[in-house]
Amino acid sequence: MDRELFEKAGAVRERAHAPYSRFHVGAALRTEDGAVFAGTNVENASYPEGWCAETSAIAQMVAAAPPGPGRRIATVAVVADRIDGRLTTPCGGCRQRLAEFAGPDTPVHVSDPAGGTETFTMRQLLPAAFALDGER
Ligand code: THU
Repeated sequence: MDRELFEKAGAVRERAHAPYSRFHVGAALRTEDGAVFAGTNVENASYPEGWCAETSAIAQMVAAAPPGPGRRIATVAVVADRIDGRLTTPCGGCRQRLAEFAGPDTPVHVSDPAGGTETFTMRQLLPAAFALDGER
């Protein structure tokens, strides 16, 4: 659990645009230089056109910082309701998007709004990841 990221992810989750699934997700990340960015899911009447909370947070980071530590993800937090008792983990596409800016040991904290938390590493979430630069 990372209290600051949990709180930011929980707060931005309140702004989800999810009228179709009604499943509200908040994500927050801290970069290697200490900046924090948050994002929420944004759905669309044409269902495949929506995107996830993690993707929104990544877009905020990329818009704010040039390549370098300001664009490297040190820690991620995701807040969403449990599904059948299980904490919500990033979807497959978001795992790949996070891996673009994170390392195999980057922690991803997944929490429900009450604060129940589990922590995964990127390596656990995306083993044998595809990358063009050989870093991962
Ligand atoms: N969603 C996220 O934003 N992040 C996740 O980690 C899982 C799924 C969103 C996508 C969609 O708007 C809603 O949750 C239901 O799938």
